[in-house]
Amino acid sequence: MQVFVTGATGFIGLAVASAFARRGHRVLGLARTSEKARELMRREIEPVIGTLQEPGAWRNRAAACSTYVHCAFEYSAKGFELDRNVLRTLSELGGRKGEARTLLYTSGVWVYGDTGTRCVDESTAPNPPKFVAARVENENFVLSCARPELATIVLRPGCVYGGHGSLTAAWFDGATKGAARFVGDGAQRWAMVHVDDLAELYVLAAEARRACDVFNATDRSRNTIRDCAEAASRVAGGNGRIESIPVDEAIKTYGPMAEALAFTQHADSSKAARLLGWQPRHAGFVDEVERLYLAWRAQRAS
Ligand SMILES: NC(=O)c1ccc[n+]([C@@H]2O[C@H](COP(=O)([O-])OP(=O)(O)OC[C@H]3O[C@@H](n4cnc5c(N)ncnc54)[C@H](OP(=O)(O)O)[C@@H]3O)[C@@H](O)[C@H]2O)c1
Repeated sequence: MQVFVTGATGFIGLAVASAFARRGHRVLGLARTSEKARELMRREIEPVIGTLQEPGAWRNRAAACSTYVHCAFEYSAKGFELDRNVLRTLSELGGRKGEARTLLYTSGVWVYGDTGTRCVDESTAPNPPKFVAARVENENFVLSCARPELATIVLRPGCVYGGHGSLTAAWFDGATKGAARFVGDGAQRWAMVHVDDLAELYVLAAEARRACDVFNATDRSRNTIRDCAEAASRVAGGNGRIESIPVDEAIKTYGPMAEALAFTQHADSSKAARLLGWQPRHAGFVDEVERLYLAWRAQRAS
C-alpha cells in the first residue's frame, strides 16, 4: 500500500507511520518543518512539507496513495473545524483510477464520557463532554463518507502511553519537581493503550479494509490514576509523592479537558481482537513504568 499520514511527526502519528513502514508499505508523512521532515526520513518515511490549513501543498501527493491516515490535530479553538476540513479533503481525493481506498480517523474514548465501571463498546452511544462533542460529529462525517471505493474507519484510542508519553509524561515531569500530580481524587481508572499496540491496530485495520467501521483501542490494564502517578513518582525520584488537584482548580489551568482527566472509563476492545486479530502486547503503564521513565528522560535530554 501507499499510505499518507497526517500528524506523522506527532506522538501517535509517528508510531503509526513507522508501523506501516516496518510492514513494507510506502509511507508519506506530513511534516511542518524541514527538521521534522529529516526525522521522518531517518525512519524511511517520505516527508511532504505542509500544514493542515493548506491542503493544496499535499493534496496531489496524498492522492497518489490508497490509504489516508489522519492523526494530526491542532490544539486550537479551530481544531475541530480544521479537522473536518482535512477529513473532507482526504475523503474527496480521487486516488488512482479504479484503486480501492481507505481513510482512517483518529478519535478517542473520551467520546463515551465518564463510563464509571460500566464497560462500553463500539455499540454504546457516545456521551461526550461538551468540549469533545465536535469529535463525534467528525466521526459521523467520516463514516458518512464511506462508499464502495472508499472504506472509512474510526479508531478510538484510550489514553496513549509508551515512549516519551503524552498525558502520562506529566507524572514524570511533576515527580522530578516534587510530586506527580493528577486531577481528581485518583480513584479513577483510564482506558489506556501502548502507542506501539495502537499503531499495529491502524495497520491491521487498513490492511483489512473493512468498510465503515469503528474500533476501540485499549489494553486490559485497569490501574487507578493514583497507582499510575505513584509508580511514576517512585521511579522518577519523587519518592512516591503524589498530589491531587481538585477538578474545579484544574479546569482553571487545563481548561475543559480537566473534566475528562477525572473520568473513569472502561472501554472494551474485543471487536478489534475478534475482527482484526489485534492483541495488545503491552502490560500497562504501571508494569512498564521503569522503562517508560527512561524513555521520557531520554527524550528530554535530546
Ligand atoms: N495522546 C493521547 O493519549 C490520545 C488519546 C486519544 C486520542 N488522541 C488523539 O489523537 C490525535 C493525535 O494525538 P497525539 O497525541 O499524537 O498529538 P501530538 O503528539 O500533539 O501530534 C499532533 C500532530 O499534529 C500535527 N499538527 C498540529 N497542527 C498542525 C497543522 N496546523 N498542520 C500540520 N500538522 C499539524 C503536529 O505537527 P508538529 O509535530 O509539527 O507539531 C503533530 O504531528 C489527536 O486528535 C488526539 O486528540 C490522543
